[in-house]
Amino acid sequence: MQTLVAEFPELRARRMRRTRTMRQLVRETSLSPDDFVYPLFVRYGEDVKNPIKSMPGQFQMSVDRLKAEVKELKSLGIKAVILFGIPAHKDPNGSDNYNPEGIVPQAIREIKNAAPDMLVISDMCFCEYTDHGHCGIINMPESSHYSDRVPEGYLLNDATLHLLAKASVVHASAGADIIAPSGMIDGMVRAIRGGLDVSGYKNTAILSYAAKYASSFYGPFRDAAESPPSFGDRSEYQMDPANRREALKEVALDVAEGADMLMVKPAMPYLDIIREVRDRYTLPLAAYQVSGEFSMIHAAAQNGWLDLERAALESLLSIKRAGADLILTYFAKDAVKWMGG
Ligand code: PBG
Repeated sequence: MQTLVAEFPELRARRMRRTRTMRQLVRETSLSPDDFVYPLFVRYGEDVKNPIKSMPGQFQMSVDRLKAEVKELKSLGIKAVILFGIPAHKDPNGSDNYNPEGIVPQAIREIKNAAPDMLVISDMCFCEYTDHGHCGIINMPESSHYSDRVPEGYLLNDATLHLLAKASVVHASAGADIIAPSGMIDGMVRAIRGGLDVSGYKNTAILSYAAKYASSFYGPFRDAAESPPSFGDRSEYQMDPANRREALKEVALDVAEGADMLMVKPAMPYLDIIREVRDRYTLPLAAYQVSGEFSMIHAAAQNGWLDLERAALESLLSIKRAGADLILTYFAKDAVKWMGG
């Protein structure tokens, strides 16, 4: 006699996974080109497109190359870029960052000319522009900001805030839609908001790198942006990877100072932080899948140890699932192509 008691009564989970269309129907998280911000490294020169060795498929480009790049991004449906500048000359104050003819202001104008609706985010930090490679003004006897009340080599907070505000106004006046302070300098959001407001750039938004960790995963970027610190490291101003509550404190400060959007960086090693910030705050949340996260997936794929496409898309999905609204990623262009395929 046929029994009505099923041999395997619980197939409820597997029924929902049986076919591709069924899986698509019940999928909780999806990726879209709208989610991505593509990082661009801009340098002086003409017709320059230098491959970055440690970041396959990524380049340092001269300004005249940006038009074609932006056209390609638009054709893929990518709507935002973040700019990093490599100046011709570095000095103790990182003056190229606030020079209206500096590399990033030039790049912003070029992109806005080529594609007015491309959203331009300007990474706001001094490490690419200073000769010592730190993210702000360093106390040195030869500096005009020298103070004998703090040790030599100390990052001077107030002098740095002043220059961050100044540079932000220059980038905003060149056409940047969003200023993204990335130096973890105390008070940076308030100083930049103040500078933008008094200069009439009330509509320029601030995306704060609110919880930025002192991470080993920035290694390839420092080649790409030619910005390794010439002495010491950044652990005096970036966060200790061991800390979770401190991230929430940093985020709270930036929210109070007027940030419009928040960022957690890096992404994959800090998915727990992304989730907590998502659950506690309502502001849009970005996550930066940094150079090392990108390069290690490529390196493994080059060895035949991982499938590049699947690993990259899975990593992006995990970041979205953790709660990021947008992802800054070097995979943006490839991901869009793979998603369509
Ligand atoms: C600072 C900045 C860094 C990155 C983005 N902005 C470098 C750092 O803090 O050392 C790293 C991004 C990456 O690794 O992809 N201007």
